[in-house]
Amino acid sequence: MNPHLSPMASARAFASRPACAIAAALACVAATLPASAQEAEQLARQHACLGCHSIDRHTPVAPSLLKIAERYRDRKDAVAYLADRISSGSKGAWSDSAKSMPAYPVLTPPQVRSLAQWIMSMQ
Ligand code: HEC
Repeated sequence: MNPHLSPMASARAFASRPACAIAAALACVAATLPASAQEAEQLARQHACLGCHSIDRHTPVAPSLLKIAERYRDRKDAVAYLADRISSGSKGAWSDSAKSMPAYPVLTPPQVRSLAQWIMSMQ
């Protein structure tokens, strides 16, 4: 041990180790959040969104995700609005859809937000 090292300095050197562990844990949490479009698309496949919605064509069942993005392009709160519609379901917003959109209470708020962001990023 360096005799010139003050007790504070050695305490700081020690404290930097747990800080590394915390940084690593945060990186791990970030990796499990569906941040990218690819992860959102994977969610959409897992939860059968793409069973009803096509990305660029109206299906007989549901509006295309691209058309949804176009319709809400000018809304400042589009992501929050669509996130809410995905969680709660939707009926009557699209007159050409005979069916209704099921609610998805199983999806977490970050997951619905990620799906809404993914839809709004389409053009
Ligand atoms: C059973 C078929 C079906 C499934 C599965 C489905 N949707 Fe829909 N979705 C619809 C229909 C039908 C509408 C139009 C509802 C309406 O007219 O209000 C719609 C509308 C929407 C809208 C627009 C709502 C609005 O207010 O304009 C979004 C966004 C959406 N769906 C996203 C999703 C996502 C994300 C998933 C998967 C988590 C999903 N949908 C799964 C049928 C479905």
